[in-house]
Amino acid sequence: LIMIPKRFDTMFDLNSYLASKQKQINLYLDNLLKKYSDSALGSRIHDAMKYTLAGNGKRMRPILCIAAAEAVKGGNTQDVILAACAIEMIHTYSLIHDDLPAMDNDNIRRGKPTCHIAFDEATAILTGDALLTFAFQTLSLNKAETGKTVDSDRLLKVINRIAFAAGNGGMVEGQMMDVSSENRNLTINELEKMHSLKTGALISASVYSGAVLGGGTDGQIEALEIFAKNIGLAFQVKDDILNIEGEPEIMGKAAGTDIIRNKNTYPLVVGLKESKKIAQNLVNSALKTLDCFDSGADPLRHIAGYIIERKK
Ligand code: IPE
Ligand code: IPE
Ligand code: MG
Ligand code: MG
Repeated sequence: LIMIPKRFDTMFDLNSYLASKQKQINLYLDNLLKKYSDSALGSRIHDAMKYTLAGNGKRMRPILCIAAAEAVKGGNTQDVILAACAIEMIHTYSLIHDDLPAMDNDNIRRGKPTCHIAFDEATAILTGDALLTFAFQTLSLNKAETGKTVDSDRLLKVINRIAFAAGNGGMVEGQMMDVSSENRNLTINELEKMHSLKTGALISASVYSGAVLGGGTDGQIEALEIFAKNIGLAFQVKDDILNIEGEPEIMGKAAGTDIIRNKNTYPLVVGLKESKKIAQNLVNSALKTLDCFDSGADPLRHIAGYIIERKK
């Protein structure tokens, strides 16, 4: 058997891939909200959930979830769409809380006023709570919504992993490190840990969920875990870089805020040039772990590059 080296499919059109997945995810998010959260009682929260979920979000995590399912074959969008949406809800909640005055105190997100500006602080806190819990409600809807029975052992693994990644095993712990280190300089190792927790953990959970629900083998899941660890960290390093070099108009959020708030970032600790090198190296390592996959992993390959080339 001759092994043909895996090459990038140069015909692959990442932009239309992203656009079509975004459309699908947005449609599901919309329908889920309509069907399960719209009540006369909770209409203000409902409006705020809808408001923050909409906007120019890239849907990177749900797309990674879908792309991971595609990479392990057997898996398709339908198998993972609810997990993908659940993760986007958790991510959106994290942005609402991240922007609060007690945290980063930001006024613009996804191209419009942040939730606490458009509504008020109490509503923003509660909307975050609502999105976080709605995510787990969504995860439990598998059969009702897709008409498919997902293997319950696999689903349980995914729920456990998403909860861990969102909580103090991941994002919440990273966010705690972030806000509590504003007045001291972290070492590069501490910074790597903080970024891996606050941003990497949920990205890893996205890829993991796609791979597991898509029916991946243990070997495939293991390889994708390493891939995700690398792009997850690269994603936050790039976020740090964009906070210096990015265009607020394009990003839909402010730039220059990390320095003002004494945030620990890669550019602060190792410089801008080295940060870019580190991000590139992380993506290279990620790509290497995909060598054992066929063209089903092409979306993941292209997304890895996009993570450090993106302008928003
Ligand atoms: C921003 O996430 C916050 C980070 C964890 C870096 P995204 O860059 O994915 O934001 P949206 O979802 O596209 O708005
Ligand atoms: C956000 O990190 C991390 C989470 C929301 C979990 P940042 O605070 O650096 O992200 P932006 O720049 O506000 O999007
Ligand atoms: Mg923050
Ligand atoms: Mg922030």
